[in-house]
Amino acid sequence: MNAVEIKRRMGESDIAEVSQLLQEVALIDAHAPLGEHQWLDLVHGGRKGFAGFVARESVDGPLVGYAQLSRGHNTWAVEVVVRPDHRSPRQAVGVELLSAALGEARRLGGGHVHLWVAKPTVDTDAMAEQGGLARGRDLYQMRLALPISDERPRVKTRPFQPGVDEATWLEVNNRAFASHPEQGGWTLDTILEREAEPWFDQDGFLVHERDGRMAGSCWTKVHREGEAPMGEIYVISMDPDFQGLGLGRSLVLAGLDHLCALGMQVTMLYVDAGNDPAVSLYRSLGFEVDHVDRAYTGDV
Ligand SMILES: CC(C)(COP(=O)(O)OP(=O)(O)OC[C@H]1O[C@@H](n2cnc3c(N)ncnc32)[C@H](O)[C@@H]1OP(=O)(O)O)[C@@H](O)C(=O)NCCC(=O)NCCS
Repeated sequence: MNAVEIKRRMGESDIAEVSQLLQEVALIDAHAPLGEHQWLDLVHGGRKGFAGFVARESVDGPLVGYAQLSRGHNTWAVEVVVRPDHRSPRQAVGVELLSAALGEARRLGGGHVHLWVAKPTVDTDAMAEQGGLARGRDLYQMRLALPISDERPRVKTRPFQPGVDEATWLEVNNRAFASHPEQGGWTLDTILEREAEPWFDQDGFLVHERDGRMAGSCWTKVHREGEAPMGEIYVISMDPDFQGLGLGRSLVLAGLDHLCALGMQVTMLYVDAGNDPAVSLYRSLGFEVDHVDRAYTGDV
């Protein structure tokens, strides 16, 4: 039995201690253990519906695991991170953290829950099952070595203009991702928070206009936290009125050009395994699946 403590607000020392654990786990797993939305929730100390859970083998021992509950768009999101040397099912760190997080969601009225796990294993499948969650969507992380072939983008782009483009971009993005649980339903806060992040670079946020309208955009990002920097096609969204015209492909090419010019040798992106148009586009550009992130879902 581990000591699991709930924190409804994270103070500076809590954030520092959890960040330290996340950094150590990221190095060993070669993967950021928290999703980006969850990471932003954590570093902002938590907002309404947030709870952090810290697990220790003994009350004043070092952290061996962390779970986070946040209220999403009509759902609860839970993430569980366990130090690699405490992952045996016998140690039960993950199961106890998950059970504490689900208990808190229940206490706050319950609802639909998503648990995201990077690089799922039979042990994470078992942990989710013990928590009463079933296997849901798989998300691919796809990667591509740069530079790619000689194919050139056929569209003109301009940088996103902070303070001017937010409302129009949100409308296009939310129309493009209308049926997507995390990427649709963005608000002004969601985008402003990202603009305030140190990685934000408007020159890497490429907007394409057509017929006097914003037709779509390709937002890139550079990850400098690992040993070698890596590019990301962070959000690509085409207004439904402009989909299927070859513009999405050209916008990805423009994003890859930008990352290449910054010296990136590898780029990655996340895509729903079931998003056939996007997966086939990425495959045809040479992207390959590096690993899977898995959602487990259920109702509490
Ligand atoms: C995915 C998206 C960016 C593609 O942009 P697009 O302009 O519609 O796509 P394009 O016309 O450039 O076509 C690109 C490729 O996808 C294929 N494609 C397009 N629509 C498709 C569909 N409905 N089913 C299967 N393949 C499709 C095309 O055949 C083309 O393949 P090719 O390059 O081998 O010829 C766009 O549809 C979109 O914004 N979708 C909603 C948001 C989204 O899912 N973003 C990606 C999340 S990672």
